[in-house]
Amino acid sequence: MSDPIARSRRIFQESFGRDAEHVFRAPGRVNLIGEHTDYNGGFVLPTAIDLGTFLAVRQREDQKIRVVAADFDEQRSEFEVSDEIPVCEEKPWSNYIRGVVQVLRSMSYSFSGMDMVIAGNLPKGVGLSSSASLEVVTGLALARLNDLPIPALEIARIGQQAENEYVGCNCGIMDQLISAGGQESHALLIDCRCLTSTPVPLPPDLSVVIIDSGLHRTLVNSAYNDRRRECEEAAKVLKVGQLRDATLERLEQVAEEWDPILYRRARHVISENQRTLDAVDALRAGDMQEMGRLMAASHNSLRDDFEVSLPAIDYLVEVVSDVLNGDGGARMTGGGFGGCVVALASTDRVSDIRAVVEQQYIANTGNKARVFECRPSAGASIVPH
Ligand code: GLA
Repeated sequence: MSDPIARSRRIFQESFGRDAEHVFRAPGRVNLIGEHTDYNGGFVLPTAIDLGTFLAVRQREDQKIRVVAADFDEQRSEFEVSDEIPVCEEKPWSNYIRGVVQVLRSMSYSFSGMDMVIAGNLPKGVGLSSSASLEVVTGLALARLNDLPIPALEIARIGQQAENEYVGCNCGIMDQLISAGGQESHALLIDCRCLTSTPVPLPPDLSVVIIDSGLHRTLVNSAYNDRRRECEEAAKVLKVGQLRDATLERLEQVAEEWDPILYRRARHVISENQRTLDAVDALRAGDMQEMGRLMAASHNSLRDDFEVSLPAIDYLVEVVSDVLNGDGGARMTGGGFGGCVVALASTDRVSDIRAVVEQQYIANTGNKARVFECRPSAGASIVPH
């Protein structure tokens, strides 16, 4: 794909007849471990990646927002800052932007309109947070152009609220937070209750490999919202505010009386929180055997207890894990129901991973998988001229 910065600037000039003032960027993310824990007040360990969403912008003097989506046939959307978002079943792509504008307005920030072109190099709809990066880059651009003193954490929360209220996914805070606050060469251990982040350095000879399974994610929002509801019910049965506060011991005490589905959902979340903390210790110690074991256990728990994997994804994890043979690991990543697998592998194994994906996964399933070797990157920022 051509350079998204140059593309966004070119399309800006063609669409609006003048040059963009600035380009902002917000990265996508891959979560190394800690899945479906964020909305339970738990721990996650994502890293921002060197693929993302770019926004070429120019401030306007009036209250109009004009947007061109370079990667969606240059579709356009135009609205006034004060416009209410029309309520409709189909949520158009422009709702991500309109949602951010609406949330900022509801917080009593005042700002003027802008012209903007969105372009990206992040595969969309495969679970690498293209939506969150669009929300974050929009929030950042509006804040900077209007001198609004909004810190990264707040920009993340605004993006999450926009997605919850105007896109219909009741997502947690992980994706927006890592997109806004990621650090180069690091993953972030995020405590999703206190919203504190601790940078965890990734060993220099370790590669973060993302394999897009080629399986389109479907019914994601409804299944995701169902899981979230189940976790909330499970917390009520356990008499805790959030599953973050539950223990496996307590879970076993009440196991007999339980709906087996709620029991399994809770078991995933409680055990995944502990695995995430253990993974930080393993990475810090450079213990890739232990990291591989934790990633495998996380995958199995998402497959069996949380039931968000798919057979083809399980197969992909299996063939990649076979190549790694305990030195590093692989697991599904993100919300699930299709999407990507993440592998942590020593850099000299990446070509073996590519080979096994082509020779076994693609050959046996016919899915159009793609392999990306990603650099753990910094969070959203303005792109220097
Ligand atoms: C999606 C959501 C996140 C998180 C993950 C699962 O990416 O947007 O908030 O819940 O799923 O870990």
